[in-house]
Amino acid sequence: TERTLVLVKPDAVERGLTGEILRRVEAKGYRLVAAELRTADDALLAAHYAEHEGKPFYAPLVDFMRSGPVLAVVAEGQRVIEGFRALAGTTDPTGAAPGTIRGDLGRDWGLAVQQNLVHGSDSPESAAREIGLWFPGL
Ligand code: GTP
Ligand code: MG
Repeated sequence: TERTLVLVKPDAVERGLTGEILRRVEAKGYRLVAAELRTADDALLAAHYAEHEGKPFYAPLVDFMRSGPVLAVVAEGQRVIEGFRALAGTTDPTGAAPGTIRGDLGRDWGLAVQQNLVHGSDSPESAAREIGLWFPGL
C-alpha cells in the first residue's frame, strides 16, 4: 500500500468544498491517515514548491497558498498517488475532465496562478518528501 499528500488549497477551503473533496477520496476507497487545517508559512511553501522556483507562477503560487488555511491530508491505499491525481484532473481546470474534482468544481479565474482546488503528490519520492514536510511526526 502507498501514501500520498493531498492539500485542499485555500480556494477550496474558502468555498466550503472540503467535505465534497474528502468525500470523493473516501468514496474511491482511500483511507485518511492524518489531517490538519493550517495556514502554511513561507519556509514550508518554499520547500514544498522548490521544483517550481524561478517559474513565472511561483510567487503568485506561494502568495495564494498562504492566503488562507489549507487542509493537509495523508491518504493511503493501493496506487493512491496515481489514483488521487486521476480524481483531481489536469492542472488547468478548464480542460479537466468532467467527473474530476477540478473538472466538476474548478474554473479559470484569469489570475496569475491556477487556483485549482487541490494538490496531490506526483510520485512516491514526492509523496515521501512532502509527507515529511507537512507531517514530520508521521
Ligand atoms: P499540484 O497537485 O498542485 O502540484 O498540481 P499539478 O501537479 O497539476 O501542477 P504542478 O505541480 O505543475 O504546479 C503546481 C501548481 O502551480 C498548480 O497546481 C497550479 O496551482 C500552479 N501552476 C502550475 N502550472 C501553472 C501554469 O502554467 N500557469 C499557472 N497560472 N499556474 C500554474
Ligand atoms: Mg505538482
